[in-house]
Amino acid sequence: MESQVQKRVLIDRANKKIGQFYYSFGYLGDWRREMGAVEDELGNYEIIKEGEAEILMHSSNTVFFNKAQVYNRDMSIAVLRTFIDKQKEEHDAYLSKKKKPLNKIPNGKSSEPVTLDGSSSAIEDEKTNGATAEKANEGIEVQHTQYDGEAKYIPDREETTASEECINIPLRGKQEPKAPKVLEALAASGLRALRYAREVEGIGKVIALDNDKASIEACNRNIKFNGSVTCSKVEAYLADARVYMLTHQKEFDVVDLDPYGSPSVFLDSAVQSVADGGILMCTATDMAVLCGNNGEVCHSKYGSYPVKGKYCHEMALRILLACIESHANRYKRYIVPIISVYMDFYVRVFVRIFTSASAIKDTPLKLSYVYQCVGCDSFHLQSLGRTICKDNSVKSAPGYGPVVPQECNDCGKRFNMGGPIWSAPIHDKQWINSILANVKAMKERYPAYEKISAVLTTISEELHNVPLFVSLHSLCSTLKCTSPPAVVFRSAVINAGFQISGSHVNPLGLKTDAPMDVIWDIMRCWVKNHPVKAQPQDNSGTVILAKEPKLQANFARAAASLSKAKVKKEVRYLPNPERHWGPKVKAGRQITSKHSSLLGPDIVTKSLGKEAETEEVREVEQDEQTANSIQEGPATKRQKTSITVTTDC
Ligand SMILES: C[S@@+](CC[C@H](N)C(=O)[O-])C[C@H]1O[C@@H](n2cnc3c(N)ncnc32)[C@H](O)[C@@H]1O
Ligand SMILES: [Zn+2]
Repeated sequence: MESQVQKRVLIDRANKKIGQFYYSFGYLGDWRREMGAVEDELGNYEIIKEGEAEILMHSSNTVFFNKAQVYNRDMSIAVLRTFIDKQKEEHDAYLSKKKKPLNKIPNGKSSEPVTLDGSSSAIEDEKTNGATAEKANEGIEVQHTQYDGEAKYIPDREETTASEECINIPLRGKQEPKAPKVLEALAASGLRALRYAREVEGIGKVIALDNDKASIEACNRNIKFNGSVTCSKVEAYLADARVYMLTHQKEFDVVDLDPYGSPSVFLDSAVQSVADGGILMCTATDMAVLCGNNGEVCHSKYGSYPVKGKYCHEMALRILLACIESHANRYKRYIVPIISVYMDFYVRVFVRIFTSASAIKDTPLKLSYVYQCVGCDSFHLQSLGRTICKDNSVKSAPGYGPVVPQECNDCGKRFNMGGPIWSAPIHDKQWINSILANVKAMKERYPAYEKISAVLTTISEELHNVPLFVSLHSLCSTLKCTSPPAVVFRSAVINAGFQISGSHVNPLGLKTDAPMDVIWDIMRCWVKNHPVKAQPQDNSGTVILAKEPKLQANFARAAASLSKAKVKKEVRYLPNPERHWGPKVKAGRQITSKHSSLLGPDIVTKSLGKEAETEEVREVEQDEQTANSIQEGPATKRQKTSITVTTDC
């Protein structure tokens, strides 16, 4: 009885909304005819609301939807809003300089002045450089990080940022920058595209693609269902995203990739489809692959070897960034990361893409191999490139190596080698602050406000020039000692003259520029006051503790040992809002009892009851099965079946 009433309410509501839409366009006859058919069908739909968009989800589960991805969608909206603000700032700064030639080039080359006409030769592909553009615009700074040998940050080469390249921001010769055009390349229900269109002021056209007919039908239905704003802004097409992106080069200011599992097959065309200065947003949910459960598969998909370490989720982000950079470089393009996030069961990166034949020569300086000791927590980075100064100019050369001996200096065991990873900063500090400020100012417009503001706060406090991190618990487990409180360990690092911060990917992670021998010395001093039981001689911990510390650790509480968020008692790590908050199974794929741990017994029982008559039970892909087995990670792959889920967001 109750469900009959709910159905009626749903039908009336949908009738009213679709009626309003048709009325406003003068198609009442069509509406009545369509509603006859729709009314029969509507009982099979649920209305799902997220942010300001509503979608109709059919109970046949043919179209993918996962409510846990509200974090992903909210974060993307925050980045989009900030992008529009930044474009304005860049545009204003540009207008105020448009008559002046750009930077004088220190090496004597003159730079072409930039015109406001997008067709000007000055902003042709090979004459553009986001770095120069951003230097040329006050207050907008791009950090090009270079590492010299092992994880040491050295400032940019002047010549790199003041090269012959010219500014290219989407100016289009107007007083206002053109509204950004967005491509949601893998749209499913279209929810994300609808939210972008409805919630991001100043956004231009949003194109939603899917190669699945049912998904595009759902997109079109949902576009209408959301009224005139979305009808005028969002267009949905049935297409293979790879072909579409290849045939629409540099056409989109924002390209959003949100695939099942790995984005690797989409990257080559995606990096070509983004306009200069535009953003590529990219999700990867194949965490089992990226985190090293199957290193060879990771290498085949991303061109990097993962190593198993507590930092594996940050390494996953850095492997994805290195992969995108490598695809971009093929087309004389390069990336500038804005923000790179690990959340729930996936990684998502937001990078700007620029074109510059000279800037891509710096790529080796932004990449490193990782040596991970097999016996202890020690890891070391080996930069692929280095810079040399010759005759007043700076050139790139292959990095010096190896940075480690055959055997670990700390415990004597061997090293595994992983990478290459992106070892330059994975976030842009100014962008992070702007995104966080935007989120806080529009709190009520983010359904996942608590989560994304917590993640952004933690990211804003991360040391940006220190790749990867150590885990205090893991250090202690190697030494078999009790753990010092984090604040005590942090203090010792600060008192030794180094920096330390938390990590958004792991509440136990500590990022520091202190070398591994300093970290072990601090732990040796801790163990002197908190002795451990005798362990076998060949244990890594025993070997480490057998050495006398060179440094006398000072554990006195250092002023900066607590993060700002902790001082202000701001939440930084939130538990999942409900059980089985995680990946979902692919649209059209059948849910079986195997999915119980992932989706929860209720959903599985409900689904099995409904689909008991379906014959085929497809196997879950192998990497999905391994996904849950990764240490520290929750369920780590977006599963490949959809289920009917309502959201209360
Ligand atoms: C994980 S879902 C997208 C979810 C959606 N972005 C959201 O926020 O709800 C991935 C979608 O990609 C589509 N897809 C897979 N391969 C594709 C391709 N080559 N071209 C276009 N769409 C594709 C699938 O049909 C599926 O609907
Ligand atoms: Zn070691």
